[in-house]
Amino acid sequence: MSDSTNDNDTNFVAQHGQWSSRWMFIMAATGSAVGLGNIWKFPYMAGKSGGGAFVIVYLICIALIGLPVLMAEISLGRRGRQSPINAMKNLIAEAKANKFWVAIGWSGMLAGFLILSYYSVIAGWALVYIFKTALGDFAGLPADQIQGQFAALVADPFQLIIWHSVFMLMVMIVLARGVERGLEVAVRYLMPALMALLVMLLYYAVTQADFQAGVDFLFVADFSQLTFGSFISAMGHAFFTLSLGMGAIMVYGAYLPKNINIISAAVPIVVADTLVAILAGLIIFPIVFANGLEPAAGPSLIFETLPIAFGQMPGGTFWGTIFFVLLVFAAWTSAISLVEPAIAWIVEKGWSRTVSVYAVGMLTWLFGLLTVFSFNDWAFEFEFAGLVKSNGFFDAIDILTSIIMLPIGGILIAIFCGWIMPRAAIKEELALSSSRVEKWWGVSVRYVAPIGVSIVMIYLILGN
Ligand code: TRP
Repeated sequence: MSDSTNDNDTNFVAQHGQWSSRWMFIMAATGSAVGLGNIWKFPYMAGKSGGGAFVIVYLICIALIGLPVLMAEISLGRRGRQSPINAMKNLIAEAKANKFWVAIGWSGMLAGFLILSYYSVIAGWALVYIFKTALGDFAGLPADQIQGQFAALVADPFQLIIWHSVFMLMVMIVLARGVERGLEVAVRYLMPALMALLVMLLYYAVTQADFQAGVDFLFVADFSQLTFGSFISAMGHAFFTLSLGMGAIMVYGAYLPKNINIISAAVPIVVADTLVAILAGLIIFPIVFANGLEPAAGPSLIFETLPIAFGQMPGGTFWGTIFFVLLVFAAWTSAISLVEPAIAWIVEKGWSRTVSVYAVGMLTWLFGLLTVFSFNDWAFEFEFAGLVKSNGFFDAIDILTSIIMLPIGGILIAIFCGWIMPRAAIKEELALSSSRVEKWWGVSVRYVAPIGVSIVMIYLILGN
């Protein structure tokens, strides 16, 4: 208790609180990682890009880039010990680096805000679908009527706004209670529930659906389906699904007590996140195939295709409801991490936590209206990296954040951690016990991650 950072530390903990154990940090970070990205986005992206080939690229990105950047981001957060913007300022002072690097904090704060604005609208769909499934709205109906229900939902801004508001309120209530009484309590209950629901649904997929067809789709690679667009989507998704490149993990790292070992917290997060994505695929595709449906529906995969399947299957009302509850829980524990960087920053300006939460929440809610209207009044079509997008602002915000801001944030974090920070400081944070692992991590963060991601970004800019 005698080192010089100790005073800082005490102030910090008094202002923000911190995780009560390594396990709580793992649960919270896994809660952030496991979200709509795993259960809604990953399956539909894999479905669009032909399955196996996409999955392989995604897994490679997770292993080679995701894990090392995750460790880098946690270390920077704990070393900087404040909201991403102020943490970067502290680290810049420590490394005597250029002020430019604060950009990591700013861009992260902005990205989190942008992502939550659309995330909440989609989570709102999931909320509606809990009730629709539970009330038997899909039972025994033909496919076109179930598709019609989804079309009617997204065509109705009023309904979308209501559910977007309900979800934002759920998020703000947790955030307002703070790190220990809010975030920790939420993940302590929601994460085990999520895992239990997942296992139940897997049992259902194995026993009642065409499990083998699902396995084949996810693991047999057809590289002819892989375009540049799906390649870059897989990379962007690796950042998105691990909540990387924007300070969410940095701020969670800031709340990590000093005595906890970083790699032993990071590995379980990556494993759990990847496992949930794969399991979600192994639940969704067998059900899709068992009912003779197509996997390539896009964002509506789990809101049209899956309800059609549940509507036809024995026990579909029950299992379908469970599925959408799972989706909402996953989205909830992710959403709280998206604006935590912004909230922590405002708290450091001297505002009360409650006021900060509601200020950020209101702004996010307002911006979310752009997404609400993307599906109806303001829908427009455009093309990006060979992918045709038809939901205007929603797609644009998604591309801007997950394909551009998160990967660039990831490059900057890797370079800052690998090249700019004093090696001794990072070594002390990471406290890796084996020199082999230390070497692997150094090479990943200094070369593999920045160069790999840059190549993809350059291709993207040059229009492939
Ligand atoms: N990882 C979450 C998901 O897969 C989304 C998310 C939460 C996120 N926090 C983030 C993405 C921070 C990027 C950055 O659904």
